[in-house]
Amino acid sequence: MAVANAGIRKQPGSVLDPLWFKDAIIYELHVKAFADSNNDGIGDFPGLMQRLDYLQDLGVTCIWLLPFFPSPLRDDGYDIADYMSVHPSYGTVEDFRAFLEAAHKRGLQVMIELVINHTSDQHPWFQAARNAAPGSPERDFYVWSDTDHLYSDARIIFTDTEKSNWSWDPVAKAYYWHRFFSHQPDLNFDNPRVLEEVLKVLRFWLDMGVDGLRLDAVPYLVERDGTNCENLDETHVVIKAMRQAIDERYANRMILAEANQVPADVRPYFGDGDECHMAFHFPLMPRIYMALGQEDSTPIIDIMAKTPDIPENCQWGLFLRNHDELTLEMVTGDERDYMYLAYSGDPRMRINVGIRRRLAPLLDNNRRRMELLNSLLFSFPGTPILYYGDEIGMGDNIYLGDRNGVRTPMQWSGDRNAGFSRCNPAKLYSPVIMDPLWGYQSINVEAQMGDPSSLLNWMRNMIALRKLFQVFGRGTLRFLSPSNRKILAYIREYKDELVLCVANLSRDWQPVQLDLSDLVGMMPVEMIGYVPFPVITEESYPLTVGPYGFIWLELQPPPVAA
Ligand code: BGC
Repeated sequence: MAVANAGIRKQPGSVLDPLWFKDAIIYELHVKAFADSNNDGIGDFPGLMQRLDYLQDLGVTCIWLLPFFPSPLRDDGYDIADYMSVHPSYGTVEDFRAFLEAAHKRGLQVMIELVINHTSDQHPWFQAARNAAPGSPERDFYVWSDTDHLYSDARIIFTDTEKSNWSWDPVAKAYYWHRFFSHQPDLNFDNPRVLEEVLKVLRFWLDMGVDGLRLDAVPYLVERDGTNCENLDETHVVIKAMRQAIDERYANRMILAEANQVPADVRPYFGDGDECHMAFHFPLMPRIYMALGQEDSTPIIDIMAKTPDIPENCQWGLFLRNHDELTLEMVTGDERDYMYLAYSGDPRMRINVGIRRRLAPLLDNNRRRMELLNSLLFSFPGTPILYYGDEIGMGDNIYLGDRNGVRTPMQWSGDRNAGFSRCNPAKLYSPVIMDPLWGYQSINVEAQMGDPSSLLNWMRNMIALRKLFQVFGRGTLRFLSPSNRKILAYIREYKDELVLCVANLSRDWQPVQLDLSDLVGMMPVEMIGYVPFPVITEESYPLTVGPYGFIWLELQPPPVAA
């Protein structure tokens, strides 16, 4: 291996474990929304650099940047016009490089977006394609047809905007294929030159030292008639080729699949440990909200039972919210009806097949519920991913279009524009949230830093606690089956670390009797306060958990007699 690895590029000074992503805490943010250094109303890389202290102090270990490339910004940057540069509003490639170096110096990893299912229609590849002769290699960069009947079994994803996955291009005089907005034509992975170009993009950023790439919309890379054009074998061939290109040249990098599919269909994205290192667990997320709303652990236990084992070197990515709508594509019709009813009273809260709200408003600003859901996020098998602002319980603005209501400026302080920018408020890329409940004067980082009981300080403590135990990122999961279904109880185990987690999904106090007869003699120690609990005996173990409460107990071996 020594010879084979000779050309492998590590980040300078890197002492990373190749499985670093298993112990990571990922923080998702958009550069435009985080901090504006030049007061033009748009966040930028120098601004983000100034806020690295904050992220380090919070304890997150990896920053996931939403798209920051040149783009007409009709899909918040997921419509890329140039893969190898930085949108001038956010800075320059040099600014990005400086940010990356600064993050690495602090031991923070950086994950960026690799959006290769589609480009913007403004990308030079598309402009060349529409002007090129049919059948030419340039035209073949995208998927064309003379009719709009091909691939008719593929669903429409942006149901609120698009009526078809085909649009007519008057220049090419043909239809082009797009799984998302009509200004986002899909690349044609049947043309080997497309993969070659994608690999150049991948190498451009990995050479610079980025640690991870999120593969956006990865199930839709290849189309075949008579199928739903999702998760096709040919798509997996493309991913394997990308992974091989990474492994040949780079150490300690990670690719994460954004495959919004049922767990059985996500499983192939890990391959035999030779495709993606990580994949989001999409279906778990709505089940967590259902379990909370219905005060019943069943939805969570069911979806985890349907979650297949994954290879040793792979990991699930877990999240409560992100920059998109809370997607309800992977739940049944009944479950969807329930979720809409319970979590989106106002129709404005809905978009496509989902709910466009942030975590705190979804939970009625109930601190206990926020802590409970975060406790699940931090103790379930996988790597937790936090969405910027959720650590302070930021609100949303359902009167903004598309998903922009959950993409408003970070609320740093009670100063003008929430401390995000010194510009004239009219210049901001988005209004800050200003109402008395959610506005920046009541919810902001500065105030919460100074309040020992704030959500921010609670999150920081929980992150620190989680980082002390590898079991959360790496251990096995076993559910207990107490008769009280309002209680979710599970055991995590990794090497000599054994943790019992008990969560009360209801608004009332709940008693529970746990069968821990295989753990007789162990002493549970509550992990936040380090409080010893009674030793486990043959009898069922009684606990009482407060409204939306949770307990993490480290199970320690019986104390040895002196
Ligand atoms: C991104 C969305 C985006 C879509 C189309 C998704 O997977 O998360 O924000 O609109 O891809 O690019």
